[in-house]
Amino acid sequence: MCGIVAYIGPRQAYPVILKGLKRLEYRGYDSAGVALLNHGLKVYKKKGKVADLEESLIGKDLEAHAGIGHTRWATHGEPSDRNAHPHSSASGKLAMIHNGIIENYTQLKTELTKKGYQFKSDTDTEVLLNFIEDIQKNNNCELEEALRIALKRVVGAYVLVLLDQDNPDTIIAARKGSPLVIGIGKGEHFLASDASPIIEYTKDVVYVNDFELAIIKADELVLKNLGNEKITPFVQKLDLELTAIEKGGYDFFMLKEIFEQPDTIFDCLRGRLDVNNRTITMAGVQNNIEQLKNANRIIIIACGTSWHAGLLAEYVFEELCRVPVEVEYASEFRYRNPVIHAGDVIIAISQSGETADTIVAIERAKEQGAFIFGVVNVVGSSIARISNAGAYTHAGPEIGVASTKAFTAQLVVLIMIALKLAKEKKSIDDDRYVYLLNELHNIPEKVKEVLLLDDDIKKLADKYKNAKDALYLGRGYNFPIALEGALKLKEISYIHAEGYPAAEMKHGPIALVDDSLPVVFVATKDSYHQKIVSNIQEIKARKGKVIAVISAGDDMIPKMADDIMMVPEADEIVAPLLSVIPLQLLACYIGIAKGYDVDKPRNLAKSVTVE
Ligand code: M6R
Repeated sequence: MCGIVAYIGPRQAYPVILKGLKRLEYRGYDSAGVALLNHGLKVYKKKGKVADLEESLIGKDLEAHAGIGHTRWATHGEPSDRNAHPHSSASGKLAMIHNGIIENYTQLKTELTKKGYQFKSDTDTEVLLNFIEDIQKNNNCELEEALRIALKRVVGAYVLVLLDQDNPDTIIAARKGSPLVIGIGKGEHFLASDASPIIEYTKDVVYVNDFELAIIKADELVLKNLGNEKITPFVQKLDLELTAIEKGGYDFFMLKEIFEQPDTIFDCLRGRLDVNNRTITMAGVQNNIEQLKNANRIIIIACGTSWHAGLLAEYVFEELCRVPVEVEYASEFRYRNPVIHAGDVIIAISQSGETADTIVAIERAKEQGAFIFGVVNVVGSSIARISNAGAYTHAGPEIGVASTKAFTAQLVVLIMIALKLAKEKKSIDDDRYVYLLNELHNIPEKVKEVLLLDDDIKKLADKYKNAKDALYLGRGYNFPIALEGALKLKEISYIHAEGYPAAEMKHGPIALVDDSLPVVFVATKDSYHQKIVSNIQEIKARKGKVIAVISAGDDMIPKMADDIMMVPEADEIVAPLLSVIPLQLLACYIGIAKGYDVDKPRNLAKSVTVE
């Protein structure tokens, strides 16, 4: 949540920062701002999107070779000009941007208020900035030293980036719990929440670790720990192309990402699944095979869409590997007192690798001796780094706030892990194993077929766009897909939607059914098909509108449903990779038909780095 960008070097800082903020807008878009150093500190900020800030700055003097910028997802204080970052210190000499939450800010604020400080905003950031300045004043020390002292008192998560009017050739940054990447150019440095603002300038980057401070000049990068000891920066090469973060002719990133799925699933399988040799190669699994094979239990932790992938993985692992699996919301897991044994394996799933609840849940499980296996999309992210082992999903940058291609890539990785483990444990017979390898191998081509439903789904979106509520029902492997379909609809079209196991509807939700309620059935052919057909009849008997995702060749459901979306036949374990796609498209086109920016749904942010 919140995107930060900074630049120091020979270029004009403002255009670099502005472009970077536009790329990071998926992290928050409540307000935006920049601070520029040029014969003094100039701070400009504005409620709304980065484009609103840009417009408000036309004609202003934006000349500077050092600057910081921020796009905000509000935590403390409503979205407004005055709560926008950067914040200025009481003296006006310091400016700071922040991504994270300072949990003990009320205590710090009380101390500062007693000393006579007054605050222009409602933010925790302004409090921390003045706390730092107060330390600097009282100790008559450099900003770097004051920051170090301040951070020893801070409880919470942060990336902080500071500009100091008295030291115009230096930017200072610190990290704990939120992401920070430094790009190293020739005589210039870039800082950002992720690599997207950096890649067109340099591919050499350093990922700053927790409790590290970066003191950055145009031609020098010094990393230190909070004990003031120097750390050698670990420079890595970025494996990311500019085209991957552009819209490529689509109106929305979300649409582009839905349509990329044949390729992203293929990329995820590539080099891993070999149908000819009947193997799955995954170093993270292979190198830890004893640990995984001997797990008494697997606990999956994740949030949101990644949690839905985890729920499907529960069904797959239990079926194929005969190991007990529990799926937990990371936000619950971290605060309760879960029983974890040394033989437990935790699978942590996250697109961003930066979700605060998942990170803390991992830390709690690690403290109790669990082995952590990360399934992560963003290379080098926090979860990738704190896991004992893992597998990347290789879906490429996902910019639309609603997760689509990352979800299908997560499913592919999880199914491959389950198959590999089942083979090692001999809990799957050879025929079924080979059959499922082939079924997975065929998925990218089948996804292409599903995407041909595009125009039909647009029409459906138009038909149902004014619905007030919707019910999504599925059984077995399609139950998590019903949950995911409902989540997609709520988050980008703001239509209230509930996902339920189809058989559970009789225990309550059926009371909602009338002739105005669309009920979306995820009803591809599987072991429960006959049962779900009965559920459809129950809804029709109460005049509900039935929209069904069905398998090719199904001649029963089309006779009952009001609308159908037909996907190719596939084994029930891999069919969710197909059945979710019409639901992604339906939600996306309803959002677009209602005139919403589906890439930036209200109140949301792509990466939830606050608890
Ligand atoms: O980056 P993560 O996978 O850890 O994110 C988890 C959720 O915040 C995320 O899936 C969220 O629910 C999406 N907006 C869903 O589309």
